[in-house]
Amino acid sequence: MTQRIFIGVAWPYANGPLHLGHIAGAYLPSDIFARYHRLKGNEVLMVSGSDQHGTPITIRAEQEGKTPKQVAAYYHDGFLQAWDKLGISFDLFTSTETDNHKEVAQDVFRTLLEKNYIYKDTQSLPYCESCKRFLPDRYVEGECPNCGFKNSRGDQCDECGKPLNASELKNLHCNICGNTPQFVESDHYLLRLSAFNDKLSEWVKKQTHFRKNVQNFSARLLKEGLHDRAITRDIDWGIPVPVPDFESKRLYVWFEAVIGYLSASKEWAKSTGNPDKWQDFWTGDCKSYYFIGKDNIPFHTVIWPAMLMAYGQLNLPYDVPSNEHLTLEGKQFSTSRNWGVSLQYYLDKYAPDPLRYMLSINMPETSDTDFSWREYVRRNNDELVATYGNLVHRVLTFTYRNYDEQVPEHPEYDGLSIALLDEAKKTLQTVGNLLEQCKFRAATREAMALAQKANQYLDESAPWKRIKEDRDATAAILCTVIEVISCLKTVLYPFLPFSSQKLHNLLGFEGNLQDQGWTIQIPESGQKLEKPEPLFTKLDDDVIKEEVDILAQGQKETA
Ligand code: MF3
Ligand code: ZN
Repeated sequence: MTQRIFIGVAWPYANGPLHLGHIAGAYLPSDIFARYHRLKGNEVLMVSGSDQHGTPITIRAEQEGKTPKQVAAYYHDGFLQAWDKLGISFDLFTSTETDNHKEVAQDVFRTLLEKNYIYKDTQSLPYCESCKRFLPDRYVEGECPNCGFKNSRGDQCDECGKPLNASELKNLHCNICGNTPQFVESDHYLLRLSAFNDKLSEWVKKQTHFRKNVQNFSARLLKEGLHDRAITRDIDWGIPVPVPDFESKRLYVWFEAVIGYLSASKEWAKSTGNPDKWQDFWTGDCKSYYFIGKDNIPFHTVIWPAMLMAYGQLNLPYDVPSNEHLTLEGKQFSTSRNWGVSLQYYLDKYAPDPLRYMLSINMPETSDTDFSWREYVRRNNDELVATYGNLVHRVLTFTYRNYDEQVPEHPEYDGLSIALLDEAKKTLQTVGNLLEQCKFRAATREAMALAQKANQYLDESAPWKRIKEDRDATAAILCTVIEVISCLKTVLYPFLPFSSQKLHNLLGFEGNLQDQGWTIQIPESGQKLEKPEPLFTKLDDDVIKEEVDILAQGQKETA
Protein backbone atom coordinates (compact mmCIF):
# COMPACT_ATOMS: atom_id res chain seq x y z
CA MET A 1 0.00 0.00 0.00
CA THR A 2 1.40 3.36 -0.88
CA GLN A 3 1.82 5.86 1.90
CA ARG A 4 1.82 9.62 1.89
CA ILE A 5 4.84 11.30 3.36
CA PHE A 6 5.14 15.02 3.96
CA ILE A 7 8.70 16.22 4.46
CA GLY A 8 9.26 19.72 5.80
CA VAL A 9 12.85 20.88 5.95
CA ALA A 10 14.06 23.82 8.04
CA TRP A 11 13.92 27.06 6.07
CA PRO A 12 17.46 28.46 5.93
CA TYR A 13 17.87 32.15 6.70
CA ALA A 14 18.82 33.87 3.47
CA ASN A 15 21.56 35.82 5.20
CA GLY A 16 24.64 33.78 4.41
CA PRO A 17 25.93 30.77 2.52
CA LEU A 18 25.17 27.21 3.56
CA HIS A 19 27.98 25.27 5.11
CA LEU A 20 28.56 21.56 5.61
CA GLY A 21 26.99 21.70 9.07
CA HIS A 22 23.64 22.78 7.63
CA ILE A 23 23.77 19.94 5.13
CA ALA A 24 24.49 17.29 7.75
CA GLY A 25 21.88 18.82 10.05
CA ALA A 26 18.80 18.87 7.86
CA TYR A 27 19.14 18.91 4.08
CA LEU A 28 20.94 15.64 3.47
CA PRO A 29 18.88 13.49 5.86
CA SER A 30 15.62 14.85 4.43
CA ASP A 31 16.78 14.16 0.90
CA ILE A 32 17.83 10.60 1.74
CA PHE A 33 14.45 10.04 3.31
CA ALA A 34 12.58 11.53 0.36
CA ARG A 35 14.52 9.54 -2.20
CA TYR A 36 13.94 6.32 -0.33
CA HIS A 37 10.19 6.88 -0.08
CA ARG A 38 9.87 7.91 -3.70
CA LEU A 39 11.77 4.82 -4.77
CA LYS A 40 9.43 2.75 -2.65
CA GLY A 41 6.56 4.20 -4.62
CA ASN A 42 5.22 6.37 -1.83
CA GLU A 43 3.75 9.77 -2.49
CA VAL A 44 6.21 12.31 -1.19
CA LEU A 45 5.95 16.06 -0.81
CA MET A 46 9.20 17.67 0.28
CA VAL A 47 9.20 21.42 0.71
CA SER A 48 11.18 24.25 2.17
CA GLY A 49 12.26 27.72 1.17
CA SER A 50 14.43 30.56 2.22
CA ASP A 51 13.54 32.31 5.43
CA GLN A 52 13.79 35.90 4.24
CA HIS A 53 12.42 38.00 7.07
CA GLY A 54 13.31 39.10 10.55
CA THR A 55 16.40 40.46 12.18
CA PRO A 56 18.83 37.87 10.77
CA ILE A 57 18.22 39.40 7.35
CA THR A 58 17.99 43.08 8.34
CA ILE A 59 21.20 42.94 10.35
CA ARG A 60 23.03 41.40 7.43
CA ALA A 61 21.58 43.98 5.05
CA GLU A 62 22.71 46.82 7.32
CA GLN A 63 26.22 45.33 7.46
CA GLU A 64 26.38 45.03 3.69
CA GLY A 65 24.75 48.37 2.91
CA LYS A 66 22.03 46.64 0.91
CA THR A 67 18.28 46.25 1.22
CA PRO A 68 16.99 43.14 2.99
CA LYS A 69 15.34 42.14 -0.27
CA GLN A 70 18.65 42.25 -2.16
CA VAL A 71 20.44 40.25 0.50
CA ALA A 72 17.73 37.60 0.62
CA ALA A 73 17.49 37.29 -3.16
CA TYR A 74 21.24 36.83 -3.45
CA TYR A 75 21.48 33.97 -0.95
CA HIS A 76 18.27 32.41 -2.20
CA ASP A 77 19.86 31.97 -5.62
CA GLY A 78 22.86 30.36 -3.99
CA PHE A 79 20.59 27.88 -2.19
CA LEU A 80 18.92 26.85 -5.44
CA GLN A 81 22.28 26.22 -7.11
CA ALA A 82 23.46 24.23 -4.12
CA TRP A 83 20.40 21.95 -4.13
CA ASP A 84 20.89 21.29 -7.78
CA LYS A 85 24.56 20.42 -7.52
CA LEU A 86 24.27 18.38 -4.34
CA GLY A 87 21.10 16.65 -5.54
CA ILE A 88 18.77 17.83 -2.76
CA SER A 89 15.49 16.97 -4.41
CA PHE A 90 12.85 19.38 -3.14
CA ASP A 91 9.44 19.20 -4.74
CA LEU A 92 9.38 22.91 -4.03
CA PHE A 93 11.95 25.25 -2.57
CA THR A 94 10.27 28.64 -2.32
CA SER A 95 10.65 31.63 -0.02
CA THR A 96 8.76 33.56 2.62
CA GLU A 97 8.66 36.59 0.30
CA THR A 98 5.94 35.23 -2.01
CA ASP A 99 2.40 36.65 -2.14
CA ASN A 100 1.10 33.16 -1.48
CA HIS A 101 3.05 32.88 1.75
CA LYS A 102 1.87 36.29 2.88
CA GLU A 103 -1.77 35.32 2.27
CA VAL A 104 -1.45 32.01 4.10
CA ALA A 105 0.45 33.51 7.04
CA GLN A 106 -2.08 36.31 7.40
CA ASP A 107 -4.93 33.82 7.18
CA VAL A 108 -3.44 31.80 10.04
CA PHE A 109 -3.03 35.01 12.06
CA ARG A 110 -6.64 36.07 11.44
CA THR A 111 -8.04 32.63 12.18
CA LEU A 112 -6.17 32.38 15.46
CA LEU A 113 -7.25 35.91 16.34
CA GLU A 114 -10.90 35.03 15.68
CA LYS A 115 -10.57 31.91 17.81
CA ASN A 116 -9.06 33.98 20.59
CA TYR A 117 -5.74 32.14 20.50
CA ILE A 118 -4.08 35.44 19.63
CA TYR A 119 -4.69 38.57 21.71
CA LYS A 120 -3.41 42.10 21.98
CA ASP A 121 -1.40 43.30 24.95
CA THR A 122 0.97 46.05 25.88
CA GLN A 123 4.55 44.97 26.31
CA SER A 124 7.53 46.63 27.80
CA LEU A 125 10.33 46.24 25.27
CA PRO A 126 13.98 47.25 24.97
CA TYR A 127 14.39 50.54 23.15
CA CYS A 128 17.75 52.14 22.35
CA GLU A 129 17.72 55.90 22.97
CA SER A 130 20.81 56.54 20.90
CA CYS A 131 19.75 54.38 17.92
CA LYS A 132 16.17 55.66 18.31
CA ARG A 133 14.63 52.27 17.75
CA PHE A 134 13.19 49.21 19.40
CA LEU A 135 15.62 46.30 19.63
CA PRO A 136 13.80 43.12 18.65
CA ASP A 137 15.43 39.68 18.81
CA ARG A 138 18.97 39.83 17.47
CA TYR A 139 19.34 43.59 18.01
CA VAL A 140 19.68 42.99 21.72
CA GLU A 141 22.04 40.76 23.67
CA GLY A 142 22.28 39.80 27.30
CA GLU A 143 22.83 37.02 29.75
CA CYS A 144 20.60 33.95 29.48
CA PRO A 145 18.57 33.36 32.66
CA ASN A 146 18.56 29.65 31.93
CA CYS A 147 22.22 28.78 31.30
CA GLY A 148 24.14 31.99 31.99
CA PHE A 149 25.43 32.34 28.42
CA LYS A 150 26.61 35.97 28.03
CA ASN A 151 25.51 36.69 24.45
CA SER A 152 22.01 35.33 24.32
CA ARG A 153 19.64 36.94 21.81
CA GLY A 154 16.36 38.54 22.67
CA ASP A 155 14.25 35.63 21.39
CA GLN A 156 16.30 32.48 21.95
CA CYS A 157 19.50 31.52 23.68
CA ASP A 158 22.03 30.19 21.19
CA GLU A 159 23.72 28.14 23.84
CA CYS A 160 20.92 26.25 25.58
CA GLY A 161 18.25 26.66 22.91
CA LYS A 162 15.58 28.04 25.23
CA PRO A 163 13.08 30.48 23.68
CA LEU A 164 13.17 33.72 25.71
CA ASN A 165 11.84 37.23 25.97
CA ALA A 166 14.29 40.12 26.03
CA SER A 167 13.00 41.26 29.43
CA GLU A 168 14.30 38.01 30.96
CA LEU A 169 17.92 38.70 29.97
CA LYS A 170 20.40 40.27 32.36
CA ASN A 171 22.91 43.01 31.42
CA LEU A 172 21.12 43.92 28.22
CA HIS A 173 22.91 45.91 25.56
CA CYS A 174 22.09 47.20 22.12
CA ASN A 175 23.77 45.13 19.44
CA ILE A 176 24.32 48.18 17.23
CA CYS A 177 25.84 50.74 19.60
CA GLY A 178 26.41 48.80 22.81
CA ASN A 179 24.29 51.11 24.98
CA THR A 180 21.96 49.82 27.66
CA PRO A 181 18.41 49.98 26.34
CA GLN A 182 15.42 51.49 28.16
CA PHE A 183 12.12 49.66 28.41
CA VAL A 184 9.35 51.35 26.44
CA GLU A 185 5.75 50.22 26.01
CA SER A 186 4.48 48.96 22.70
CA ASP A 187 1.32 47.12 21.64
CA HIS A 188 1.73 43.61 20.35
CA TYR A 189 -0.15 40.42 19.63
CA LEU A 190 0.58 37.35 21.69
CA LEU A 191 0.05 33.70 20.93
CA ARG A 192 -1.79 31.96 23.75
CA LEU A 193 0.70 29.13 24.15
CA SER A 194 -0.30 28.62 27.78
CA ALA A 195 -3.64 27.23 26.57
CA PHE A 196 -1.85 24.30 24.94
CA ASN A 197 0.51 23.25 27.68
CA ASP A 198 -1.50 20.22 28.79
CA LYS A 199 -2.54 19.06 25.35
CA LEU A 200 1.02 19.34 24.12
CA SER A 201 2.44 17.50 27.11
CA GLU A 202 0.05 14.64 26.47
CA TRP A 203 0.93 14.62 22.81
CA VAL A 204 4.71 14.75 23.33
CA LYS A 205 4.50 11.92 25.85
CA LYS A 206 2.87 9.72 23.23
CA GLN A 207 5.54 10.35 20.59
CA THR A 208 7.70 7.49 21.78
CA HIS A 209 9.27 7.20 18.32
CA PHE A 210 10.85 10.68 18.71
CA ARG A 211 14.60 10.66 19.20
CA LYS A 212 15.38 10.75 22.89
CA ASN A 213 16.94 14.24 22.86
CA VAL A 214 13.96 15.64 20.95
CA GLN A 215 11.43 14.13 23.30
CA ASN A 216 13.31 15.08 26.47
CA PHE A 217 13.98 18.65 25.40
CA SER A 218 10.32 19.18 24.47
CA ALA A 219 9.00 17.50 27.59
CA ARG A 220 11.26 19.70 29.73
CA LEU A 221 9.99 22.92 28.13
CA LEU A 222 6.43 21.83 28.72
CA LYS A 223 7.13 20.83 32.28
CA GLU A 224 8.56 24.27 32.99
CA GLY A 225 5.34 25.62 31.50
CA LEU A 226 4.71 27.61 28.34
CA HIS A 227 4.17 31.35 28.46
CA ASP A 228 2.22 33.30 25.89
CA ARG A 229 4.62 34.81 23.37
CA ALA A 230 4.58 37.95 21.28
CA ILE A 231 4.27 37.16 17.59
CA THR A 232 4.59 40.69 16.25
CA ARG A 233 7.63 42.95 16.23
CA ASP A 234 8.60 46.61 15.97
CA ILE A 235 10.38 46.21 12.65
CA ASP A 236 9.58 47.24 9.08
CA TRP A 237 10.77 44.17 7.19
CA GLY A 238 8.49 41.14 7.05
CA ILE A 239 4.82 40.30 6.72
CA PRO A 240 2.38 43.08 7.64
CA VAL A 241 0.09 42.38 10.58
CA PRO A 242 -3.40 42.19 9.05
CA VAL A 243 -5.15 44.49 11.56
CA PRO A 244 -5.54 48.27 11.76
CA ASP A 245 -2.99 50.43 13.62
CA PHE A 246 -0.17 47.93 13.17
CA GLU A 247 1.26 49.45 9.99
CA SER A 248 4.65 50.00 11.58
CA LYS A 249 4.93 46.41 12.84
CA ARG A 250 5.43 42.99 11.29
CA LEU A 251 4.73 39.35 12.14
CA TYR A 252 7.53 37.72 14.14
CA VAL A 253 9.74 35.81 11.76
CA TRP A 254 9.38 32.48 13.55
CA PHE A 255 5.59 32.73 13.68
CA GLU A 256 5.36 33.10 9.93
CA ALA A 257 8.33 30.94 8.86
CA VAL A 258 6.84 27.73 10.28
CA ILE A 259 3.62 28.56 8.41
CA GLY A 260 5.85 28.22 5.34
CA TYR A 261 5.40 24.46 5.49
CA LEU A 262 1.71 24.94 4.83
CA SER A 263 2.01 27.82 2.37
CA ALA A 264 4.67 25.98 0.36
CA SER A 265 2.38 22.94 0.16
CA LYS A 266 -0.37 25.16 -1.20
CA GLU A 267 1.99 26.78 -3.69
CA TRP A 268 3.14 23.35 -4.83
CA ALA A 269 -0.47 22.17 -5.23
CA LYS A 270 -1.28 25.19 -7.42
CA SER A 271 1.75 24.43 -9.58
CA THR A 272 0.50 20.88 -10.22
CA GLY A 273 -2.78 22.26 -11.58
CA ASN A 274 -4.70 20.72 -8.69
CA PRO A 275 -4.87 23.50 -6.08
CA ASP A 276 -6.60 21.29 -3.49
CA LYS A 277 -3.91 18.63 -3.57
CA TRP A 278 -2.13 20.07 -0.53
CA GLN A 279 -4.95 18.63 1.56
CA ASP A 280 -3.79 15.08 0.83
CA PHE A 281 -0.72 15.86 2.88
CA TRP A 282 -2.31 18.00 5.59
CA THR A 283 -5.75 16.65 6.35
CA GLY A 284 -5.53 13.17 4.90
CA ASP A 285 -3.75 10.02 5.89
CA CYS A 286 -0.15 11.18 5.82
CA LYS A 287 2.89 11.12 8.05
CA SER A 288 4.66 14.46 8.43
CA TYR A 289 8.37 14.57 9.08
CA TYR A 290 10.28 17.73 9.93
CA PHE A 291 14.04 17.68 9.39
CA ILE A 292 15.74 20.38 11.41
CA GLY A 293 18.87 21.24 13.33
CA LYS A 294 18.90 21.00 17.09
CA ASP A 295 18.38 24.75 17.68
CA ASN A 296 14.99 24.58 16.01
CA ILE A 297 13.48 21.88 18.20
CA PRO A 298 11.12 24.05 20.34
CA PHE A 299 9.63 25.70 17.27
CA HIS A 300 8.77 22.34 15.70
CA THR A 301 7.76 20.19 18.65
CA VAL A 302 5.97 22.84 20.70
CA ILE A 303 5.17 26.13 18.98
CA TRP A 304 4.22 24.86 15.52
CA PRO A 305 2.12 21.98 16.95
CA ALA A 306 0.37 24.54 19.20
CA MET A 307 -0.36 26.70 16.16
CA LEU A 308 -1.67 23.68 14.28
CA MET A 309 -3.89 22.68 17.19
CA ALA A 310 -5.16 26.23 17.40
CA TYR A 311 -5.89 26.41 13.69
CA GLY A 312 -7.53 22.99 13.69
CA GLN A 313 -7.96 20.18 11.15
CA LEU A 314 -4.30 20.01 10.13
CA ASN A 315 -1.93 17.10 10.76
CA LEU A 316 0.55 17.43 13.59
CA PRO A 317 4.15 16.35 13.03
CA TYR A 318 4.68 12.61 13.08
CA ASP A 319 8.40 12.85 13.65
CA VAL A 320 10.97 15.60 14.10
CA PRO A 321 14.28 13.82 13.57
CA SER A 322 16.50 16.67 14.65
CA ASN A 323 20.24 16.24 14.39
CA GLU A 324 23.01 17.32 16.71
CA HIS A 325 25.90 19.41 15.42
CA LEU A 326 28.66 18.70 12.97
CA THR A 327 32.06 20.05 13.96
CA LEU A 328 34.87 20.84 11.56
CA GLU A 329 38.35 19.55 12.35
CA GLY A 330 37.28 19.29 15.99
CA LYS A 331 35.88 22.84 16.33
CA GLN A 332 32.44 24.35 15.96
CA PHE A 333 31.57 26.00 12.65
CA SER A 334 31.69 29.75 13.19
CA THR A 335 31.09 32.56 10.75
CA SER A 336 32.57 35.18 13.04
CA ARG A 337 35.74 33.17 13.57
CA ASN A 338 35.78 32.24 9.89
CA TRP A 339 35.84 28.53 10.63
CA GLY A 340 33.84 26.74 8.00
CA VAL A 341 33.62 25.09 4.65
CA SER A 342 30.84 26.51 2.54
CA LEU A 343 28.91 24.16 0.38
CA GLN A 344 29.66 26.24 -2.66
CA TYR A 345 33.38 26.04 -1.98
CA TYR A 346 33.16 22.28 -1.65
CA LEU A 347 31.07 21.78 -4.77
CA ASP A 348 33.32 23.95 -6.92
CA LYS A 349 36.20 21.57 -6.18
CA TYR A 350 34.80 18.13 -5.44
CA ALA A 351 32.04 15.73 -6.44
CA PRO A 352 28.71 15.65 -4.57
CA ASP A 353 28.47 11.93 -3.76
CA PRO A 354 31.64 11.65 -1.64
CA LEU A 355 30.37 14.46 0.59
CA ARG A 356 26.93 12.88 0.81
CA TYR A 357 28.60 9.62 1.75
CA MET A 358 30.89 11.14 4.35
CA LEU A 359 28.02 13.01 6.00
CA SER A 360 25.66 10.02 5.87
CA ILE A 361 27.96 7.46 7.39
CA ASN A 362 29.01 10.01 9.98
CA MET A 363 25.71 11.78 10.54
CA PRO A 364 25.35 13.64 13.88
CA GLU A 365 22.14 11.79 14.74
CA THR A 366 22.49 11.17 18.43
CA SER A 367 25.69 13.05 19.23
CA ASP A 368 27.94 15.61 17.57
CA THR A 369 30.25 14.23 14.89
CA ASP A 370 33.26 15.71 13.17
CA PHE A 371 34.10 16.45 9.58
CA SER A 372 37.84 16.33 8.95
CA TRP A 373 39.51 16.42 5.59
CA ARG A 374 41.69 13.47 6.59
CA GLU A 375 38.64 11.33 7.26
CA TYR A 376 36.97 12.61 4.12
CA VAL A 377 39.91 11.59 1.94
CA ARG A 378 40.22 8.26 3.74
CA ARG A 379 36.57 7.37 3.33
CA ASN A 380 36.61 8.44 -0.28
CA ASN A 381 39.69 6.39 -1.09
CA ASP A 382 39.19 3.32 1.11
CA GLU A 383 35.43 2.97 1.04
CA LEU A 384 34.02 4.57 -2.10
CA VAL A 385 36.96 3.94 -4.43
CA ALA A 386 38.59 0.79 -3.04
CA THR A 387 35.55 -1.06 -1.72
CA TYR A 388 32.46 -0.10 -3.69
CA GLY A 389 33.89 1.49 -6.84
CA ASN A 390 36.50 -1.16 -7.30
CA LEU A 391 34.02 -3.98 -6.89
CA VAL A 392 31.86 -2.51 -9.59
CA HIS A 393 34.75 -1.73 -11.88
CA ARG A 394 36.42 -5.11 -11.55
CA VAL A 395 33.35 -7.12 -12.30
CA LEU A 396 32.05 -4.90 -15.07
CA THR A 397 35.33 -4.59 -16.98
CA PHE A 398 35.98 -8.33 -16.70
CA THR A 399 32.52 -9.21 -17.94
CA TYR A 400 32.62 -6.58 -20.65
CA ARG A 401 35.89 -7.93 -22.03
CA ASN A 402 35.26 -11.62 -21.72
CA TYR A 403 31.53 -11.96 -22.36
CA ASP A 404 30.98 -9.85 -25.38
CA GLU A 405 30.04 -6.62 -23.59
CA GLN A 406 26.91 -8.14 -22.09
CA VAL A 407 25.46 -9.92 -19.08
CA PRO A 408 26.32 -13.64 -19.55
CA GLU A 409 23.81 -16.53 -19.74
CA HIS A 410 22.27 -17.30 -16.35
CA PRO A 411 23.76 -20.64 -15.34
CA GLU A 412 23.28 -22.51 -12.08
CA TYR A 413 24.33 -20.75 -8.89
CA ASP A 414 26.34 -22.60 -6.27
CA GLY A 415 25.89 -22.40 -2.51
CA LEU A 416 28.26 -19.46 -2.08
CA SER A 417 26.44 -17.44 -4.72
CA ILE A 418 23.08 -18.20 -3.22
CA ALA A 419 24.34 -17.17 0.21
CA LEU A 420 25.58 -13.83 -1.13
CA LEU A 421 22.35 -13.21 -3.03
CA ASP A 422 20.43 -13.87 0.18
CA GLU A 423 22.62 -11.31 1.89
CA ALA A 424 21.66 -8.83 -0.80
CA LYS A 425 17.96 -9.45 -0.21
CA LYS A 426 18.45 -9.09 3.51
CA THR A 427 20.36 -5.86 3.01
CA LEU A 428 17.52 -4.39 0.94
CA GLN A 429 15.16 -5.17 3.82
CA THR A 430 17.40 -3.91 6.59
CA VAL A 431 18.41 -0.69 4.88
CA GLY A 432 14.74 0.04 4.15
CA ASN A 433 13.78 -0.58 7.78
CA LEU A 434 16.55 1.62 9.09
CA LEU A 435 15.70 4.44 6.69
CA GLU A 436 12.07 4.33 7.76
CA GLN A 437 13.25 4.95 11.30
CA CYS A 438 15.53 7.79 10.16
CA LYS A 439 18.62 5.84 11.19
CA PHE A 440 20.78 7.08 8.38
CA ARG A 441 24.21 6.23 9.75
CA ALA A 442 23.31 2.63 10.39
CA ALA A 443 21.62 2.37 6.99
CA THR A 444 24.74 3.61 5.18
CA ARG A 445 26.91 1.18 7.11
CA GLU A 446 24.60 -1.71 6.32
CA ALA A 447 24.64 -0.91 2.60
CA MET A 448 28.42 -0.64 2.48
CA ALA A 449 28.79 -3.92 4.36
CA LEU A 450 27.19 -5.65 1.38
CA ALA A 451 29.85 -4.20 -0.92
CA GLN A 452 32.51 -5.59 1.41
CA LYS A 453 30.96 -9.03 1.39
CA ALA A 454 30.72 -9.01 -2.38
CA ASN A 455 34.40 -8.06 -2.58
CA GLN A 456 35.34 -10.99 -0.38
CA TYR A 457 33.24 -13.31 -2.50
CA LEU A 458 34.88 -12.01 -5.65
CA ASP A 459 38.38 -12.41 -4.20
CA GLU A 460 37.63 -15.95 -3.07
CA SER A 461 35.95 -17.01 -6.30
CA ALA A 462 38.69 -15.40 -8.45
CA PRO A 463 36.85 -15.46 -11.80
CA TRP A 464 40.01 -14.23 -13.57
CA LYS A 465 41.59 -17.63 -12.75
CA ARG A 466 38.50 -19.75 -13.25
CA ILE A 467 37.74 -18.49 -16.72
CA LYS A 468 40.47 -20.61 -18.32
CA GLU A 469 38.90 -23.84 -17.04
CA ASP A 470 35.19 -23.16 -16.79
CA ARG A 471 33.44 -20.31 -18.59
CA ASP A 472 29.99 -21.26 -17.26
CA ALA A 473 31.04 -21.36 -13.62
CA THR A 474 32.83 -18.05 -14.13
CA ALA A 475 29.70 -16.57 -15.68
CA ALA A 476 27.76 -17.67 -12.60
CA ILE A 477 30.21 -15.82 -10.37
CA LEU A 478 29.98 -12.68 -12.47
CA CYS A 479 26.21 -12.80 -12.64
CA THR A 480 26.07 -13.15 -8.87
CA VAL A 481 28.18 -10.05 -8.35
CA ILE A 482 26.30 -8.17 -11.05
CA GLU A 483 23.07 -8.88 -9.20
CA VAL A 484 24.63 -7.70 -5.96
CA ILE A 485 25.87 -4.47 -7.48
CA SER A 486 22.44 -3.98 -8.93
CA CYS A 487 21.18 -4.25 -5.35
CA LEU A 488 23.85 -1.74 -4.30
CA LYS A 489 22.70 0.83 -6.84
CA THR A 490 19.30 0.69 -5.16
CA VAL A 491 20.26 0.62 -1.50
CA LEU A 492 22.87 3.32 -2.02
CA TYR A 493 20.65 5.49 -4.20
CA PRO A 494 19.22 7.59 -1.36
CA PHE A 495 22.77 8.40 -0.24
CA LEU A 496 24.62 8.42 -3.57
CA PRO A 497 22.08 9.36 -6.25
CA PHE A 498 24.61 10.41 -8.88
CA SER A 499 26.77 7.31 -8.83
CA SER A 500 23.75 5.04 -8.48
CA GLN A 501 22.23 6.49 -11.63
CA LYS A 502 25.56 6.06 -13.38
CA LEU A 503 25.76 2.45 -12.27
CA HIS A 504 22.18 1.92 -13.43
CA ASN A 505 23.28 2.96 -16.92
CA LEU A 506 26.57 1.02 -16.81
CA LEU A 507 24.54 -2.11 -16.07
CA GLY A 508 22.62 -1.47 -19.26
CA PHE A 509 19.39 -0.24 -17.69
CA GLU A 510 17.62 2.70 -19.22
CA GLY A 511 15.74 5.65 -17.85
CA ASN A 512 15.69 6.88 -14.31
CA LEU A 513 16.66 4.63 -11.47
CA GLN A 514 14.09 6.60 -9.47
CA ASP A 515 11.28 4.80 -11.33
CA GLN A 516 12.54 1.28 -10.61
CA GLY A 517 11.19 0.70 -7.14
CA TRP A 518 12.90 -0.43 -3.95
CA THR A 519 13.77 -3.83 -5.39
CA ILE A 520 16.75 -5.68 -6.74
CA GLN A 521 16.52 -5.17 -10.45
CA ILE A 522 17.98 -8.30 -12.03
CA PRO A 523 20.02 -7.72 -15.18
CA GLU A 524 18.89 -10.12 -17.93
CA SER A 525 21.39 -12.31 -19.73
CA GLY A 526 22.22 -10.71 -23.02
CA GLN A 527 21.64 -7.22 -21.58
CA LYS A 528 24.20 -4.90 -23.17
CA LEU A 529 26.60 -3.29 -20.73
CA GLU A 530 27.90 0.20 -21.20
CA LYS A 531 31.63 0.65 -21.52
CA PRO A 532 32.75 0.57 -17.85
CA GLU A 533 33.98 3.74 -16.24
CA PRO A 534 35.03 4.23 -12.61
CA LEU A 535 32.27 5.54 -10.33
CA PHE A 536 34.61 7.50 -8.06
CA THR A 537 37.94 9.27 -8.23
CA LYS A 538 40.79 8.66 -5.84
CA LEU A 539 41.95 11.79 -4.02
CA ASP A 540 45.57 12.58 -3.41
CA ASP A 541 46.62 12.76 0.24
CA ASP A 542 47.88 16.28 -0.48
CA VAL A 543 44.26 17.40 -0.46
CA ILE A 544 44.26 17.04 3.33
CA LYS A 545 47.10 19.47 3.94
CA GLU A 546 45.90 21.84 1.25
CA GLU A 547 42.41 22.13 2.73
CA VAL A 548 43.53 22.35 6.34
CA ASP A 549 45.97 25.12 5.36
CA ILE A 550 43.19 27.01 3.58
CA LEU A 551 41.05 26.79 6.73
CA ALA A 552 43.87 28.05 8.95
CA GLN A 553 44.65 30.83 6.49
CA GLY A 554 41.04 32.02 6.47
CA GLN A 555 41.07 32.08 10.22
CA LYS A 556 44.31 34.06 10.36
CA GLU A 557 42.79 36.69 8.10
CA THR A 558 39.89 37.30 10.49
CA ALA A 559 42.05 37.23 13.61
N1 MF3 B 1 15.56 30.04 9.56
C1 MF3 B 1 15.63 29.21 10.71
C2 MF3 B 1 17.07 28.85 11.00
O1 MF3 B 1 17.88 28.91 10.10
C3 MF3 B 1 14.85 27.93 10.53
C4 MF3 B 1 13.44 28.16 10.22
S1 MF3 B 1 12.64 26.70 10.08
C5 MF3 B 1 11.01 27.11 9.91
O2 MF3 B 1 17.38 28.50 12.13
F1 MF3 B 1 10.34 26.34 10.61
F2 MF3 B 1 10.80 28.31 10.28
F3 MF3 B 1 10.66 27.03 8.72
ZN1 ZN C 1 20.92 29.95 27.61
